[in-house]
Amino acid sequence: MDLTQIEAVVVLALEEIRAAAPDEVALLRVKYLGRKGIISGWLRGLKDLPADRRAAVGQIANAARARVEEAFAAVAADGGRGVHRPTGFDPTLPGRRGYPGTRHPISHTIEVISSIFQQMGFVVADGPEVETDYYNFEALNFPPDHPARDMQDTLFVEGGRLLRTHTSPVQIRSFQKRRPPVKIIAPGRVYRFEAISSRSYCLFHQVEGFYVDTDVTFGDLKGAILAFAQAYFGPDVTLRFRPSFFPFTEPSTEVDFTCYLCGGHGCSVCKYEGWLEILGAGMIDPNVLKAVGYDPDEFSGYAFGMGVERLAMLRYKIEDIRLLFDNDIRFLRQFEF
Ligand code: PHE
Repeated sequence: MDLTQIEAVVVLALEEIRAAAPDEVALLRVKYLGRKGIISGWLRGLKDLPADRRAAVGQIANAARARVEEAFAAVAADGGRGVHRPTGFDPTLPGRRGYPGTRHPISHTIEVISSIFQQMGFVVADGPEVETDYYNFEALNFPPDHPARDMQDTLFVEGGRLLRTHTSPVQIRSFQKRRPPVKIIAPGRVYRFEAISSRSYCLFHQVEGFYVDTDVTFGDLKGAILAFAQAYFGPDVTLRFRPSFFPFTEPSTEVDFTCYLCGGHGCSVCKYEGWLEILGAGMIDPNVLKAVGYDPDEFSGYAFGMGVERLAMLRYKIEDIRLLFDNDIRFLRQFEF
């Protein structure tokens, strides 16, 4: 019985034990550790060895038995499910793909919009989602009887406060903290008491932008929006300014972009209009500047606000806004940002 032979048998035994199907384990135990088993045979044979080799070989044989017993114990510990079976493992098969998660399309869209405006010198700011009537309405020049202040449209919380219905209150909070020039982009959540449908949800996101300085003109507003439109949808986009009304801007406008998909010819994305309604904007009303202590004869500014869900839905052809709030993993997995 030589030592190399013992080692070879142990290696073979360990391999067999690890690869064994659950119903083969008992037989292997008999083969190696049983009374008439291979290892037991070695130990019995020790007495026939010359005295000077007995101790050394005995030690090796006992160590071999311990290793084999350990291997049986390991197989028993994993329930004999054969996870160690080398024959069950094919290293040439593709691995199972882990799913680490991705950015939500809304977070991603906000990041894209913000980074475009940051390149134009806008700084990112935010404000609270629970607001007071003063910041959400009064300082923004809403008259006391304006319909937006009604319970039908606004969600009120305890203590006379409300969930902001737009990101425009961040204008007031920013102006109070700074002196012009102020050039800010403010993304965030807004809430409206609305019937939920495929087109509207009780909460959504807006990105507000505003710039106040000496001599800010409507031309500056137009330039900033055109630069954004082309960065977001591509260089061929053109703009259409429609007159509109907001209490906090004068003049006010709603801005349409030519449809990024059909280039204005008409398709299902733009409902065959050729135009996409993207944002509200205007020159900040002198009453708003006065409310924050800016002299309207010295300073002027523009502001704009756009809906993030709308931009994301157009870009990724999402037909139901509720998909953006359900957090169904089957939906979210389609976006790999
Ligand atoms: N706050 C307006 C809205 O929610 C959008 C807007 C922002 C319009 C800034 C003009 C200027 O509809």
